[in-house]
Amino acid sequence: VGPDPTGGGTSLPGIECVSASLMRGAAYAERPFEILRAARDEAPLLWDDSRAAWIVTRYDDVLDVLRDNVKFSNRVKQRTLGIVFGQAGTMSSMDGKDHVDRRKIIAPELMGRRLGDFLPLIEANARGLVDEFSGRGRVDLLGEFATRLPLRVMIDMLGFPKDDEVRLRNWHNRMFWALGSTGDALREGIEAHEELAHYAEPLIVDRTACSREDLVSKIIHSQVADHQQGVEEMQGLVSQVLTAGSETTARAIASMWFNLLSSPGQLEMLEDDPSLWDHAFSETLRHDPPIPENLREVVEVVEIHGRRLWPGEAIYVSLLSANHDEKVFKDPERFDIHRPDLRFARELRLAGLDEGGRSGHLAFGAGSHFCIGFELARAEATIASKVLLETLRSPRLASDRRPILTPASRLAAMDSLVVEFDAR
Ligand code: HEM
Repeated sequence: VGPDPTGGGTSLPGIECVSASLMRGAAYAERPFEILRAARDEAPLLWDDSRAAWIVTRYDDVLDVLRDNVKFSNRVKQRTLGIVFGQAGTMSSMDGKDHVDRRKIIAPELMGRRLGDFLPLIEANARGLVDEFSGRGRVDLLGEFATRLPLRVMIDMLGFPKDDEVRLRNWHNRMFWALGSTGDALREGIEAHEELAHYAEPLIVDRTACSREDLVSKIIHSQVADHQQGVEEMQGLVSQVLTAGSETTARAIASMWFNLLSSPGQLEMLEDDPSLWDHAFSETLRHDPPIPENLREVVEVVEIHGRRLWPGEAIYVSLLSANHDEKVFKDPERFDIHRPDLRFARELRLAGLDEGGRSGHLAFGAGSHFCIGFELARAEATIASKVLLETLRSPRLASDRRPILTPASRLAAMDSLVVEFDAR
């Protein structure tokens, strides 16, 4: 199944027809936003032959799919996340009551007052890392800071010993790069989960017998009566939380600093008013969502743009394209921490337009699977960035090492972010 080729030329010079293959080739690496715009304008529902899946690119269509977990199921993720983390503990691949039961055990621990118990860990870890390079005048902000901070915070939150950071990073990396992969990378990820599960088991057993202040204890002794976490489920949850929350937040921090250091005048505004870090974080997630797309499975016959989609078909929603939809965000390629059309406050699970006439970015998804770590990620990025800006004077991108960026897949593309500064 697939749409008929449209033919007849497109708004893209030199390109006859907008197709999903355009979203992979060399042209996409050079001008991703032009290609995504043409897709939104001329072929808002595309068939991707190589992945045997549909793709939607407009903000409204992406939102409709994400908000409707009855017609569009997450069970397709049993084939990706479920294989790596084990089916028992992977809330991302569940629907309906099973999903709600798993989610309500952990989500409240990562929000509001209860998240507040963990916030001092963020500042302490950020200061510890900054101390390692603050006298040096040069740092790889991605490798030495952004990728280390969220993992360290999660290690502390879960209650693992800090000394095990290197082992935990190794398991994290292997699981992260296995998601959506096949072959050796997938095998590596499954093995890493098994090793981590074996390592975590004594801690889970200990916290079951005797509750402490860490996240594992809080989840095990949660008052949610409908569902009791077993050891295997806890092992899956530990792997999922460690993986979901680290690289994503790391890339958000690095992208935010890259955007600020390459957009004249914006960092100065933050020096004058640190409350604007919340704006910088929201605008970064809009401009560069760390996860550029998300997958669902069609479970009821649905019609999108005149085309019938059948149960069992896979559909990708492009979060990157939705966040750059000019019908929602004017001049979308511009990074602007004062953008009037973006919601800057705490994200809303339903996303879309708020009562103030601003729309939410979709980097955390929307609807029932909306990211449970959204407040934690925001707290990590903003607290850590305040610590950085307090310590590093006149930070600037190192002239000899500009990061290689493909905006369409920044998560995979940025290999380092070398920054120079004057020590305070
Ligand atoms: C900037 C950082 C982050 C980004 C961009 C991000 C993005 C996302 C997205 C797009 C989803 C929705 C997946 C779907 O619709 O199927 C999601 C779900 C999830 N995220 Fe995050 N995330 C981030 C940080 C975190 C953190 C810090 C945690 C730590 C706990 C976390 C844990 C999860 C979990 C467990 C889910 C699954 C929720 C469910 O299926 O109900 N994420 N995240």
